[in-house]
Amino acid sequence: MLSAVERKIEQFVGELNDKEVSALYTKLPHGKRLRAKLILKIAGTSLSVVKTAAIVEMIHAASLLHDDVIDDAYTRRNKPSINALFGNKTAIMLGDILYSKGFLELNNISPQVAKIVSNAVVQLSLGELKDVSLSKAFNLDKEIYLEMIYQKTASLMEAAAGAAAVLADKDKVAYMTYGRNLGIAFQMIDDILDITMDSETLGKPALHDFEEGKTTLPYIYLYELLDAQEQKILKSLHTKKLSKSEEEWIKSKMQEHGIIQKSYAEAKLLVEEAISLMNALGEDALSSIAMAMIERDF
Ligand code: IPE
Ligand code: IPE
Ligand code: MG
Ligand code: MG
Ligand code: MG
Repeated sequence: MLSAVERKIEQFVGELNDKEVSALYTKLPHGKRLRAKLILKIAGTSLSVVKTAAIVEMIHAASLLHDDVIDDAYTRRNKPSINALFGNKTAIMLGDILYSKGFLELNNISPQVAKIVSNAVVQLSLGELKDVSLSKAFNLDKEIYLEMIYQKTASLMEAAAGAAAVLADKDKVAYMTYGRNLGIAFQMIDDILDITMDSETLGKPALHDFEEGKTTLPYIYLYELLDAQEQKILKSLHTKKLSKSEEEWIKSKMQEHGIIQKSYAEAKLLVEEAISLMNALGEDALSSIAMAMIERDF
């Protein structure tokens, strides 16, 4: 039924009645549609559910359009990003158009769903801003990192699950906890994959976060375990365009200290909590989504 969501997004974009936007939308490849899948698995395939899934995916796409401007990223979903193809101005405005159309359509779902989803977008934006501010210095505070990734990434998954629970008349708190755990783990894994995968597999830049100033969980853990001399070296590489040998140094130190396993284990704990929550509710499909998420490589 994901195809019904695709058609609904196309319909929403078509209703904007703007040739340029329609043409730009065709340049926007589809992602994994994880958030839509979550919503359909929780709430079925009624029209309101399909619309909510379409809205959440439009909002997510908008956040990525802005994110690639923020992160100076020129590939997305295995294609040149919109900012790479048409510049930042176009990417920002296309993002605004998708956000706004999403909000407009939320009014037709229900006040409660509208509130849950729009509140998450406030959190997402606050999180993206915090990510930018944190990247100006070498952040080593794990609690601050965790709060930031909750806001920028987990809030929308939490809201997707919560909105779906409301539509299906299910236990909102349990599903929101599931979405929150999944979202935090999802971003932790995204931050790990930035280090362990190549850009072809990811469909977006690899080993890019540290250059952009982001000290994600693996960097926070690595710093803690390096000696003073090595800490100095790591700090000196922050926000720099890395040479091949500098890349290799970072990766070898991560390997030496088991940093990827340590970070992965942290994400896994959250996913296991989410899985046991869903197992208790007999939601096997949602347990499987969580399982697949932890095992993904892009
Ligand atoms: C990318 O999200 C942004 C993050 C939260 C890390 P996804 O990996 O779900 O992106 P698509 O939609 O599948 O491209
Ligand atoms: C941002 O995180 C996720 C959003 C909420 C838009 P990233 O900047 O790590 O996402 P990717 O790696 O570009 O997909
Ligand atoms: Mg990014
Ligand atoms: Mg970003
Ligand atoms: Mg990333």
